[in-house]
Amino acid sequence: MIPEKPLYEGKAKSVYLSENPDELIVVFRNDMTAFNGVKHDQFTDKGILNATASEFFMKMLEAEGIPTHYIRMAAPDTMIVRRLDMIPLEVIVRNIAAGSMTKKYPVAEGTVLERPVVSIDYKDDERGDPMINDDLIEVLHILPADELKQVKEMALKVNTVLSRFFDECGIRLVDFKLEFGKAAGKIYLGDEISMDSMRLWDKQTGESFDKDVYRFDKGDVITAYRNVLRRILPDGGKKD
Ligand code: ATP
Ligand code: TYD
Repeated sequence: MIPEKPLYEGKAKSVYLSENPDELIVVFRNDMTAFNGVKHDQFTDKGILNATASEFFMKMLEAEGIPTHYIRMAAPDTMIVRRLDMIPLEVIVRNIAAGSMTKKYPVAEGTVLERPVVSIDYKDDERGDPMINDDLIEVLHILPADELKQVKEMALKVNTVLSRFFDECGIRLVDFKLEFGKAAGKIYLGDEISMDSMRLWDKQTGESFDKDVYRFDKGDVITAYRNVLRRILPDGGKKD
């Protein structure tokens, strides 16, 4: 049973306490936001589509030896996860230049990077999630250097697994954001891996299948999200 009051209500998910103190209940809502909440809408089925994608990728990554917070699904939009002390970092991996990278640096959108790049933002909405570096992360005691190294290695391994998989599905994994947390001294991949947190381009046409469809009014975002599930799930996403 889901308690009445969430422990935490984020922009797209609500997090509830569970009867088991080591677990949390995460409900993927139909809210969609962009530009730090300035743009906000609701779309039927969006929560289920992202929860389904997240379940699929968390299971895939576990099978590849990456510890994740995923425990089980309680409903199509509700995931039971291991309760983590979240590390307040947004760990972004980029394979192709897009989004903020092309605004901040002299590189054209679509440029294939020489190698995958990890960039890290400090997760703090009030400060506009500023980019941070290894020295600051250590000196501000956000994470010790050895654990940061581990986080980056995990992020790059996630990239290897996901890039290969998407390529086989005819999709280019442009970039994505991960969040990590700790439980009993061990680092786990937390939060979500969904169409909200990745940039995905069709290999043939370059069409976006991700939140950019919503950010930049490129078409029907739910159709785009369904297209991803159709390509990645063995049953073509029929349960939606
Ligand atoms: P953003 O959209 O920038 O990620 P948000 O806080 O609004 O920020 P939501 O996804 O709506 O994001 O909220 C989910 C919250 O739950 C996030 O703060 C995330 O860090 C946290 N969270 C995710 N997984 C876990 C976990 N396993 N244990 C504890 N907290 C978690
Ligand atoms: P980025 O290009 O830095 O930001 P924006 O999407 O605002 O231009 O985003 C890189 C990738 O990380 C992209 O796939 C979206 C994802 N991301 C999130 O999911 N949440 C975030 O808060 C940020 C900054 C990025």
